Amino acid sequence: MTRSLPANPRSIADAATLLRDGKLVAFPTETVYGLGANALDALAVASIFATKQRPRFNPLIVHVRDREEADELVKFNPLASALADAFWPGGLTLVLPHREPSPLARLVSAGLPTAAVRSPAHPVARALVEAAGGPIAAPSANRSGRISPTTASDVAEELRGQVELILDGGPCPLGIESTVIGFDGERPTLLRPGAIERSDIERVLGPLQRPDREIIQAPGMMQSHYAPRAQLRLNATGVEVGEALLAFGPTIPSGAERVCNLSATGDLREAAANLFAMLRFLDRAGVDRIAVMPVPTHGLGEAINDRLERAAAPRQE
Ligand code: TXA
Ligand code: MG
Repeated sequence: MTRSLPANPRSIADAATLLRDGKLVAFPTETVYGLGANALDALAVASIFATKQRPRFNPLIVHVRDREEADELVKFNPLASALADAFWPGGLTLVLPHREPSPLARLVSAGLPTAAVRSPAHPVARALVEAAGGPIAAPSANRSGRISPTTASDVAEELRGQVELILDGGPCPLGIESTVIGFDGERPTLLRPGAIERSDIERVLGPLQRPDREIIQAPGMMQSHYAPRAQLRLNATGVEVGEALLAFGPTIPSGAERVCNLSATGDLREAAANLFAMLRFLDRAGVDRIAVMPVPTHGLGEAINDRLERAAAPRQE
């Protein structure tokens, strides 16, 4: 049975107890909802993979209270330290070498020599990490390959009956997952564009490398992901018969029966916050095909376009 409770000190304390008992709990972060387990408990972590039907080679993000807690798990280099100073708590994930011996369940990082760590800013996530008294492994709380949830009811739709408790903290303010940065030696690499814009990171680090596309370094990089049931047609300038429209900006083509506008004022922050919710809304409405207007590629547009391309990619089934 799944309970969904408004997040408050009492439900957060319940959630922390469940985590300590090896159970799964869904909780809000500033980016998307996470499906959390005690990151030190191998069985609990294994049940995340089972619940999400997530391939075991796809590692999880470990949510920590602060830099100090992260230091117990991974080894920072100077650039990673500068990033943590600039953007933590917040929507930035750092992939760094394990500190050995590591207390983390090995499955968290799918056997890789690195672990992904992030200190979330959302007050409910922070309170939960604090109350749990240790790191929480949490991927986005959707079934593998599907749209990430940005509300408690989205989580219920994805995982009903498979998670003990959903902490409802309202809609996630950023609505798109964290930016993931790895290091090739000491050279920083953008593994996944996300909630923190490239330009903000480059202001701290200088130019970022693009990862080698041939290697699955971050399986958010797997081609088909974030996939709605409906088929997407990207960079649409008009609407074809039978299509719904996912619009962007003040001037939109006519002819669609259903229209969702990511941002009528052309604001990329608003568009990022609306993206997954609107894809999910159109899916729920039973739409078969969605025409998506072009979204600029600067700023948060890089992450939005990344998600749209994966949502449009052919399925791998
Ligand atoms: O905003 C977020 O990051 C959300 C919230 C819940 O924190 N979490 C999230 O987790 O998006 P998930 O599992 O959906 O995406 C984690 C990404 C994946 O692309 C994964 O491959 C990458 O991080 N990742 C995790 N550990 C890694 C590692 N050791 N090396 C490379 N990539 C890693
Ligand atoms: Mg995900």
